[in-house]
Amino acid sequence: SWSMTSFIEDKVKEIKNIVGDKRVICAISGGVDSSVAAVLVHRAIGKQLTCIFVDHGLLRKNEAEEVYSTFKEKFDMDLIMVDASKRFLGKLSGVKDPESKRKIIGEEFIRVFEEEAGKLLGIEFLVQGTIYPDVVESGTGTSATIKSHHNVGGLPEDLNFKLIEPLRELFKDEVREVGRKLGIPEDIVSRQPFPGPGLAIRVLGEITEEKLHLVRETDFILRDEVKKAGLDKSIWQYFTVLPDIRSVGVMGDERTYSHTIAIRAVESVDGMTSDWYRIPYDVLSKISSRIVNEVKGINRVVYDITSKPPATIEWE
Ligand code: XMP
Repeated sequence: SWSMTSFIEDKVKEIKNIVGDKRVICAISGGVDSSVAAVLVHRAIGKQLTCIFVDHGLLRKNEAEEVYSTFKEKFDMDLIMVDASKRFLGKLSGVKDPESKRKIIGEEFIRVFEEEAGKLLGIEFLVQGTIYPDVVESGTGTSATIKSHHNVGGLPEDLNFKLIEPLRELFKDEVREVGRKLGIPEDIVSRQPFPGPGLAIRVLGEITEEKLHLVRETDFILRDEVKKAGLDKSIWQYFTVLPDIRSVGVMGDERTYSHTIAIRAVESVDGMTSDWYRIPYDVLSKISSRIVNEVKGINRVVYDITSKPPATIEWE
């Protein structure tokens, strides 16, 4: 709409004025908010902006490659990709408790980001993808007592940079509209929410490379089939979870004793409450047979049919 076009023009002018000839950094996660904030600031100041993408090894399949092709190749941004997966997995080794996982990932993320930022000279500003609901929520935060929801990519305020938060007045749907106007691909603009700690909270209990592989591959099949069924814009959030249980199955003449994978799909407005999404049986059937046929190590697929409350959306 006209108002979002003029929003972009106004913000571009404002950012140019504030930044002058100084340098700016931004942590991008591949999520909607940080992507739109980064592209908007890039439009204003071009190569004075450096983006840092930290791959913590807990991303979905192809996610890092998609970030690279969008921001580096399409937008020609100055982008630093940091593969810190070994480092994160090392820190997480043997850790079972969900809140400990969140804490470790959040802290390590800040450490990696600070190290990278420290290598750059003359940075004065930090871009944050804060949107209006974040501003309001950080006031009270009742859900914070249930899960820490530490937003990885959200950085502490004492980093010694001046903040630029160009999306502070916008609601999510306005952020998406701005993103489309800026030419950000629809895959990113209409992307489902993805938690900062990533797949770490979808592998229940201890994280291993093998378990991450099972969640990543099954999630990829689920997303593929949801998209093929034309449901990707109707389901608010959908993913797979590895509950870390094994059960008996049969394949050919062989008895198997392999992992169970759970499918979670929910309708929601803001993630505070949700109902389980009624994926049609034939789509579920396709997903289930593809998973057990294509992902070695899975012999059973179950569907989570609980709402929030009493369950939460993520299993950890
Ligand atoms: P729950 O599981 O609390 O999730 O019902 C509500 C929404 O928040 C997301 N979520 C997180 N996002 N860091 C995040 O950035 C987290 O630690 C985290 N935990 C849950 C979840 O994916 C859902 O959209």
